[in-house]
Amino acid sequence: MKPAPEQPAADRQAPKATEQRKSVAVLPGDGVGPEVVSAALDTVDRLGLPLDLRFGEIGWECWRQEGDPVPERTWKLLEETDTCLLGAITSKPLREAEAELSPELRGTGRTFVSPVIQLRQRLGLYANIRPVTDLDHGRFDFTVIRENTEGLYAGYDVHGLDEALWNTVRDHPNAEASGPEGTSVTLRLQTRFGIDRLLRFGFAYAEANGHRRLTVVDKPNVLRHSGHHLRERLESISREYPDVETEILNVDAVALWMVRRPERFGVVVAENMFGDILSDLGAGVMGGLGLAPSGNIGDHGSYFEPVHGSAPGMAGQDRANPMAMLLTVAQMLDHLGLAVPGEDLRAAVRAVARARTTVTYDLGGSAGTRRVAEAVARELADPRGESATRPAGGERAATAPVPMEVVDRLAVLDTASVSDALDSLGIAGVLPGITARVPGARTAGLAYTVTYQPVDTSDGRFRNAANYLDEVPAGSFVVVDNGGSTSCTNWGSLLTSVARSRGVRGTALHGSARDIAEIRTAGYPLFSTGATMVSGKNRVELAATGGEITVGGVTVRPGDVVVADDNGVLVVPAERAAEVAERAERVERTESAIADAVGTGLRLDEARRRFGYAKPWEGPGERSADA
Ligand code: IPM
Ligand code: MN
Repeated sequence: MKPAPEQPAADRQAPKATEQRKSVAVLPGDGVGPEVVSAALDTVDRLGLPLDLRFGEIGWECWRQEGDPVPERTWKLLEETDTCLLGAITSKPLREAEAELSPELRGTGRTFVSPVIQLRQRLGLYANIRPVTDLDHGRFDFTVIRENTEGLYAGYDVHGLDEALWNTVRDHPNAEASGPEGTSVTLRLQTRFGIDRLLRFGFAYAEANGHRRLTVVDKPNVLRHSGHHLRERLESISREYPDVETEILNVDAVALWMVRRPERFGVVVAENMFGDILSDLGAGVMGGLGLAPSGNIGDHGSYFEPVHGSAPGMAGQDRANPMAMLLTVAQMLDHLGLAVPGEDLRAAVRAVARARTTVTYDLGGSAGTRRVAEAVARELADPRGESATRPAGGERAATAPVPMEVVDRLAVLDTASVSDALDSLGIAGVLPGITARVPGARTAGLAYTVTYQPVDTSDGRFRNAANYLDEVPAGSFVVVDNGGSTSCTNWGSLLTSVARSRGVRGTALHGSARDIAEIRTAGYPLFSTGATMVSGKNRVELAATGGEITVGGVTVRPGDVVVADDNGVLVVPAERAAEVAERAERVERTESAIADAVGTGLRLDEARRRFGYAKPWEGPGERSADA
């Protein structure tokens, strides 16, 4: 085996004399591991951190050639360093592992134990921290904290039972029918020692990171005794942390809610196997394993790795997304408590992910590993470069993004009710003169604003003014301002199909569209001032995205909620969205109570009086008691 590529610290890092230096064991591992590690470290170089990087070996080649995926020299390196950055490691089941051993090692009784499991158990790294954040819109931000040393991973996994185990299971009819040789058993080890330290870690993490809720994942309706044990420990330990609210949920329900309502979670604590599964699910909620970082923490050690595996099929192709590794490095920097926070690095990754111009295939782009890492490095060097794509003149104080759950509630409401709710709050929201081109459409999304400006038509060139569409996130509602022009178009069938495929919810043009018949057939929610066949390609160009747009005195800001149906289009300011949804829902309840009452023979004026028609946003409420 090749000697480890030792890399002197001075080659990579320009130290800051004042800070205490930290040493990091870097274990690139297998598959895409080395590529993402090297791309990420080149980027981190720009931070000039006082890090001494010491490279070492781990993984599949070590197993094949030495019969040990974590050689002694690597354990020694781990002992001598402050923490460890791990790329990715290939892990294979029993038979494949044995088959790939070099011939002289075969049949010598060596068993492959996943190196990451070895690190976690031998170094006592009991808490596996796997943050799940919405890089695009900040709509959710929770962390899975996975138990890392026991549970089903404890190693009590046998096929062919000895007497003691056989005596434990022999009464089960299936075991009886199979005999000890035909039965396998895995024990889920859960100890007070293991549970208590994990729960305390989870609570401390919640407090340190401003999370108010700690969800413990289990399956107490089936695993009754271990579930009861866990519950008792939670009840006891939660008393030490009165400010954190706790709950125990079934793992299947957590899987459902993680997809449907990720914003409801803060810290999610789970035993080893549940945590393994839920953290991949969390990665999926985030947009893929290419974005998911993790850290393995114990009382006397740590190592950091992306959640993704080694993806051997992708190795050496410069295709893997380096963002998971970059975010992992950020987590490591936080842990080392360095003066330059991981937050800078995270912000740079977020900016590149959001801009969507330099991203890998998994985020819909075509950039390679290196280019993405370089884009993050540029962003780190010049964070204001991002301001070029930021809202122009949006001077409103930053508001929290509107949760998709609120957008979806608004989407099913009639614009008439939403308009009544806005009226009740004194907010003008209707975009005048913009009408439905596709009958029956009803939708809501987060405003993505686009401004066009006219160009001199004399050169006749087409200008690709609509390329912005590549950057528009799913769940958006595109609002294009072309000054209300009806003399050329800003939207057509091609843009419709691109928007559709990107998960864009609809388009409102303060301007005009063409290809109306196709767009109707596609059922895409399109709203505009006019329709015309005249091309806009050589008559307008893109002036800005993400700026404020004003239509008839109503301002649309990026992130506001646009709600539209056959009645027209209106805009709900982001900071009032939840309140408006609430009021509009009450309006609808009041109106249906009135309609029902009239349907059963009550006079209209009486029904209106009874159900509070004067203030329908207060809901039918108490006045309906006698109905
Ligand atoms: C992970 C991985 C590992 C695990 C495998 C490689 C043993 O899936 O870190 O989540 O199951 O813990
Ligand atoms: Mn996993």
